[in-house]
Amino acid sequence: MRYVISPGGELRGELRVASDKSISHRAVLLAALADGKSEISNVLMGEDVRATIAAVQACGVEVNEDGKRLIVKGKGGLASPVGDIDCGNSGTLMRLFCGVAAGWNVNTRLVGDSSLMKRPMRRITEPLECMGADITDKNGCPPVQITAGKRLFGMSHKLPVASAQIKSALLLAGLRAEGETAVIEPFASRDHTERMLQMFGVPVRREGLCCAVSGKAVLSPTRIKIPADPSSAAFFMVGSVIAPNSDLLLKEVCVNPTRNGVIELLRRMGAHIEMLNPRKMGSEPVADIRVVGGSLRGIDIVGAEVPAAIDDLPALFVAAATAHGKTRLTGASELRHKESDRIAAMADGLQRLGVGCETTEDGIVIEGRGDKKSVFSGGEVDSCGDHRIAMAFTMAALRAKDSVVVNDCDNVSTSFPGFGKMATAAGIRIAVSKD
Ligand code: S3P
Repeated sequence: MRYVISPGGELRGELRVASDKSISHRAVLLAALADGKSEISNVLMGEDVRATIAAVQACGVEVNEDGKRLIVKGKGGLASPVGDIDCGNSGTLMRLFCGVAAGWNVNTRLVGDSSLMKRPMRRITEPLECMGADITDKNGCPPVQITAGKRLFGMSHKLPVASAQIKSALLLAGLRAEGETAVIEPFASRDHTERMLQMFGVPVRREGLCCAVSGKAVLSPTRIKIPADPSSAAFFMVGSVIAPNSDLLLKEVCVNPTRNGVIELLRRMGAHIEMLNPRKMGSEPVADIRVVGGSLRGIDIVGAEVPAAIDDLPALFVAAATAHGKTRLTGASELRHKESDRIAAMADGLQRLGVGCETTEDGIVIEGRGDKKSVFSGGEVDSCGDHRIAMAFTMAALRAKDSVVVNDCDNVSTSFPGFGKMATAAGIRIAVSKD
């Protein structure tokens, strides 16, 4: 599937973007581990979370859709599935499920699509093995095989990179280990697991960059409502900031400080962004976000700022191309290990659209063309099968001279089903072509 986007336009009105993917995965997994019936409202029904639902169903958990609610009947544990668990495109599912399977005695093999089968797993298998798990990968990548029956011992893990996926996998395993399992990160990554565990009645010790759980935990069923995904909202924030005369309200967005880096960075670039009606949704802070079109200046972004904006950097690169002056990103080598190598994929697309940029091992320098009305030339770019690259370049069309064609967009539905329709409603002229 490819998107053909006509140049120009502005974004106006109100939108509630797709529900948060990270929180949806966790809600399904924790509800499956709880003892009793949990209700999850507004769960994201994208392909990644559907794979998580299928995974827990394969482990004997009953999951039913009831209108906009998902009812999960946990049994306080999981059965071993027959056959492999297919994690599709989802790194979050595969990594978190490694922790679940190792801790909760599930015998299984985890596989995924061609992108996921190339992603690094040693960062998960190694610390789980140190805790006592019988877990193997293939040259550092999937498939991951977990053999049940091992007793796990809690320990303190000092992570070499800030990663919520590694942290969450270890905490989930730690729920059933002997003693305490602690994780210390170099910078704070998203903390949805820590927040949600407390909703399920599990205490989490948190001190600075350290969080810890004790073993033999019992999860009590609960009700969870999922807010809109800030990383899906990020595309519309960028679209609204770069398209003159835009004025868009993004409703019910999760504004957890470990996720709202994109707002901070866009504001530093000069964007007009208001956080309205701040409130709480379960354990997560939410707000309505108003974004108005305006002009931007280039900024320097350093490693400490990366985790809170990790999934939003492709969109931010598009904003950077429209800024006055250079934007320099460093300390972001993790971007090379996502659904695609996002530094390479974005650099390639930006150059095809006439924007100067230079990549480094851990970042990129983008030459802002803020003095030009049409920043992007128009042309054809490749999303590399990566949902976030596809949506980022869709926004570029708002400041392009000619149409932008984005190839290989099927995976947009992993995180944002209905993106095309919502983009159209907001003012982007996007046609979906199947050839
Ligand atoms: C996620 C964590 C991030 C993010 C991914 C989702 C999660 O990955 O990029 O899209 O739900 O925990 P890392 O934790 O590996 O940085």
